[in-house]
Amino acid sequence: MPVKSPVRRLSLGKIAAPLLALLLAPAALPAGEAAALHRFEIGQHEFLLDGKPLQIRCGEVHAPRVPPEYWRHRLRLVKAMGLNTVCAYLFWNLHEPRPGEFNWAGAADAALFCRIAQEEGLWVILRPGPYACAEWEMGGLPWWLLKHDDIRLRTRDPRFLEATRRYLNEVGRVLAPLQVSRGGPILMVQVENEYGFFGKDPEYMGELRAALLGAGFEVPLFACNPKDHLKDGYRADLFPVVNFGSDPRGAFAALREILPTGPLMCGEFYPGWFDTWGAPHHLGNTERYLTDLGAMLKMGASFSIYMAHGGTTFGFGTGADRPFKPDTSSYDYDAPISEAGWTTPKFDLTRALMAKHLLPGETLPEPPPRNPVIAIAPVAAAEWAPVFANLPTAVTAAEPRTLEQLDQAHGCVLYRTTVPAGPEATLAVAAVHDVGQVFLDGRRIGFMDRRSGAYRVVLPARAQAATLDLLVEAMGRVNFGVEVHDRKGLHGPVTLAPAGQPATQLEGWRMCRLPLDSDMLAGLRYDAAPTQAVPAGQPAFWRTTVTLAQPADCFLDLRPWGKGYVWVNGHNLGRYWNIGPQQTMYVPGPWLKAGDNEIVILDLLGPKRPVVAALDRPILDELRPALDFARTKRREAKLRSDFGAPAHAGSFAAGSTLQTVRLDRPVRGRFFCLEALEAHDGKPFAAIAELTLLGADGEPLSTEGWTVAHVDSEERGVADGTAENAIDGQTANFWHSEWGAAQPAFPHRLILDLGATRTVGGLRYTPRQGADDVTGRIKSYRVFIADDLVLP
Ligand code: GLA
Repeated sequence: MPVKSPVRRLSLGKIAAPLLALLLAPAALPAGEAAALHRFEIGQHEFLLDGKPLQIRCGEVHAPRVPPEYWRHRLRLVKAMGLNTVCAYLFWNLHEPRPGEFNWAGAADAALFCRIAQEEGLWVILRPGPYACAEWEMGGLPWWLLKHDDIRLRTRDPRFLEATRRYLNEVGRVLAPLQVSRGGPILMVQVENEYGFFGKDPEYMGELRAALLGAGFEVPLFACNPKDHLKDGYRADLFPVVNFGSDPRGAFAALREILPTGPLMCGEFYPGWFDTWGAPHHLGNTERYLTDLGAMLKMGASFSIYMAHGGTTFGFGTGADRPFKPDTSSYDYDAPISEAGWTTPKFDLTRALMAKHLLPGETLPEPPPRNPVIAIAPVAAAEWAPVFANLPTAVTAAEPRTLEQLDQAHGCVLYRTTVPAGPEATLAVAAVHDVGQVFLDGRRIGFMDRRSGAYRVVLPARAQAATLDLLVEAMGRVNFGVEVHDRKGLHGPVTLAPAGQPATQLEGWRMCRLPLDSDMLAGLRYDAAPTQAVPAGQPAFWRTTVTLAQPADCFLDLRPWGKGYVWVNGHNLGRYWNIGPQQTMYVPGPWLKAGDNEIVILDLLGPKRPVVAALDRPILDELRPALDFARTKRREAKLRSDFGAPAHAGSFAAGSTLQTVRLDRPVRGRFFCLEALEAHDGKPFAAIAELTLLGADGEPLSTEGWTVAHVDSEERGVADGTAENAIDGQTANFWHSEWGAAQPAFPHRLILDLGATRTVGGLRYTPRQGADDVTGRIKSYRVFIADDLVLP
């Protein structure tokens, strides 16, 4: 481990002064220490630092997810937990918000984060991308790449590579000087992220490797992948590590297939998981986490706990899981160190476990104390600024334009046009990314929702021409799979069809950009807030002044509000949504001040009570499905009465290994049904971690536009066994038939709507991961593929 400043060996009293100096002058390492150049290598059996074995005990922390004022506090917790290294992604879209404009300030000051880590006695593993994933907006990729209509991200598309090289060069300029070989803490650097999940092109990885070498990185370069994709895109000149949440022996055995000798490392080991809006809060299996961690420590393997401290995805940082499951702004992740930097029982258990595996002479520092926390009594919002009264000049065009085409990164767009007088008619759009509210002459009449592919609203009869508004909110670009090509806004054509009449296309759009940036907020015109009833369905900004004697951390209580964003003294805290599971937003104490604090809440739906209050504890596990305007009910699908002969029938092997099945002959259809008939454990449950469909050529089909058309049973109460988990690309979560309130018997059917007729030549079934006794591992099953399994 980087030798922490020599002050460590002195008694506590004497530590204070020099430590304070260190705190205040983070960059200045004590003389003789900073220049200590180190050699980090991949040895025959273990990592070597200056020729001596080093077991990397690492934990992941994302600097932009922690207020910079608290970086040192969190890194001290990581150290006190028994770790000797911190792993950090860089999010390209944070560091290059516009082409060629770089940002390394504030939350983006990655160099400062690394230096503080070094001062706190931690090595650093750097993961610069270009793609990261991480439940971060577009996986870290910059939205402006999507201005090229046909760009192919994460490939050797010359436009992608050119932008990537420029970015990685800049990363090298700023961070290469912090490599261990130059006196800094950076041990090794990751190339891309889980590329095997996305592609198989080793030349692409080669281009990135060359770019990083060209940018000045001389420490080892490595690549991470889940065990089933270690060979995809593999290159012998990139050290491989394997990511997994359970079964270290199985994962390391898979790693040994491509790495016969050399240190074993788990690049991401999950103590918990992330949350998405509308699905139950995730809690990790602590017992299994400790058992597997203990096993890795014993076998001398290296590992990185993902996440050691999740923090908060402030601002517009949240991404979405595919097909479209928007991530919550809390990234607590049920990590050992909680969102607000509190130690947890999992922290204490991890620390105790690590204490048994320290090097001779190595000691664990005490964890720093918890930061003070306060509650804030309710304060009524004093002012409001309705969105419709604060519209900017519109951009006009025949067809609706996406945010990218409107040169807008985040926020909302109001799409306005005129509809003629006429009878009741169905308004239909090709797609809304991501949530649309439909207004007729200013009155909200319906919602459009990407999560369930609900893109139709019935307009009532109109005696005269009316103003049609679609207020479309972008909820963070998908961060995984081909779906990262996620252009936001309204996707035309937009049509109107009176019952029994042909549809006509609506044109002549006026588009008001609502980027929700500081310029927009500064330009809002506020009036006194309504004291009587809050006008329903009125999207508006609400402003409140909260006076504090002693500012400290707190958790804003958003339960009286609907859906939107919060700003505290100009800091964008991120997104909230009353469907949960997250109901509070963490407010870092340093962002509050003694005296008056300005709180601005944009509520796109309209609050129950426009009242601002804060709690001294978070609420991250309160689902309120009844408030979900689109997902309360999974649309009842009318199924064909008889599915006829199956396209395939078979039996899956027991265990957790991915299984590929080729159909006797390719079959065409829009709907794909997997019908599970029994499970290996004889219990009435079916589960799928991941289901991939293959084309006639045996290659995975793109999941773009897929939705779950029907599922007979899914656990959505006691845990997140939602059907979409089977097609989100993540093997750590899974669809599971109900087991809480009821335990329906077999058969269990999962029917996917592929969005269009596709040719299916096979499938890949990833069983529920975990120990041998997990439920839901499917034995016999049948497959049906047709255009009419689900009737219109
Ligand atoms: C993957 C990615 C991470 C993160 C986790 C889930 O393994 O590499 O960035 O998305 O899944 O939290």
